Amino acid sequence: MTNFVPFALEHYQSLHERNVAYNLADSSVKCVTTREWLNEDEIESLLDTGLFYPEVNGTTALRGGIADLYTGATAANVLVTVGASQANSMVCQTLLVPGDEVVVMTPGYRQIWGTAQNMGCVVRDLPLRADAGWRIDLDALDRVVNPRTKLVAIVNPNNPTGTVMTRDEMLRVVAACARVGAWLHVDEVYHGTEHPGVADTPTFWGMYDRVICTNSFSKAYGLSGLRVGWALTTPDMAEELWRRHEYAVIAAAAPSMTLAEIALKPAKRLQLLQRQRQITQAGLAVLHEWLATQVGVFSLQPAQATSIAFVRYHREMLSYDVAEAIRQQASVLVAPGSTLGAEGHLRITVGYEADKVRTALTKIGQVVAGLR
Ligand SMILES: Cc1ncc(COP(=O)(O)O)c(C=O)c1O
Repeated sequence: MTNFVPFALEHYQSLHERNVAYNLADSSVKCVTTREWLNEDEIESLLDTGLFYPEVNGTTALRGGIADLYTGATAANVLVTVGASQANSMVCQTLLVPGDEVVVMTPGYRQIWGTAQNMGCVVRDLPLRADAGWRIDLDALDRVVNPRTKLVAIVNPNNPTGTVMTRDEMLRVVAACARVGAWLHVDEVYHGTEHPGVADTPTFWGMYDRVICTNSFSKAYGLSGLRVGWALTTPDMAEELWRRHEYAVIAAAAPSMTLAEIALKPAKRLQLLQRQRQITQAGLAVLHEWLATQVGVFSLQPAQATSIAFVRYHREMLSYDVAEAIRQQASVLVAPGSTLGAEGHLRITVGYEADKVRTALTKIGQVVAGLR
């Protein structure tokens, strides 16, 4: 394909993540092992899972369990996918044709941004303002959403900034979409990763009739290896997504869906969410200790959610070059801000063992202190 836009963030990670001593470029927490979180009955149900093709749109039990997380939803609103990534991809494939305009939150996880361009669409940035705690620029919202806009794509809580939208901001986004009849796609994979004292992030589900919410077990549950996610939307749109899903993958993996059903059992879900929050909190404590030693080198706009720190470095260098210096000199992997749409920043994930995070951050500080 000519002018293909690669997924720069995922490409950078997949090139290097297995070849470094410290990988802080990911965006979830240290994941659980299958042995660690299943009891004997659950292991039995995993072993009893048939390995024929599973239900193509997701098992009835899993779709029902997902629907129960949302007020007024039923299994008919849900398509189970291979991670939120596949759900996001199906959204683009279903809604977009060449020439459509797509408005994308920036900085952000650039899957819709790149996919839409690769489909011949025009992508317009909806900026988050670095000088205003990464709040959404509401004046820009009203400017960029126009009658040619087919889709507005939001990530809430945001990756990489960790910002959670206020109710007022959510209403403004819905109003902008309604004004032009655009679809609203909200990637909600960081729901459940809110920091202590921050209320659970409200879903956009129920706020607008043309909304598609996507989510997965990767971030809040620490189960990215399951590769199970979902899209939640109107039954008609769920059918449309399902038609593309048949082409793309047929179905998610049967053993993964069994594990996902287990993860949604109330006690198990709570246990997984608490585990993720504890790991994040310990990592954030280490991060803040470290930042206190980095005055003039690094600064951070505080996040409300995620285990990610989107740190600004105070050096006149491109983020790719800074990340490469850190990787080559210290064997620590971080994500360049340019891969998320914001130069001058690095994305560092702290959702790992506190000692590992402390050592890796110290190494990052040493490398960047030596850069001029
Ligand atoms: C905002 C966002 N959406 C989707 C994904 C992919 O999630 P999944 O593992 O569910 O495919 C990521 C992963 O980093 C992400 O940050």
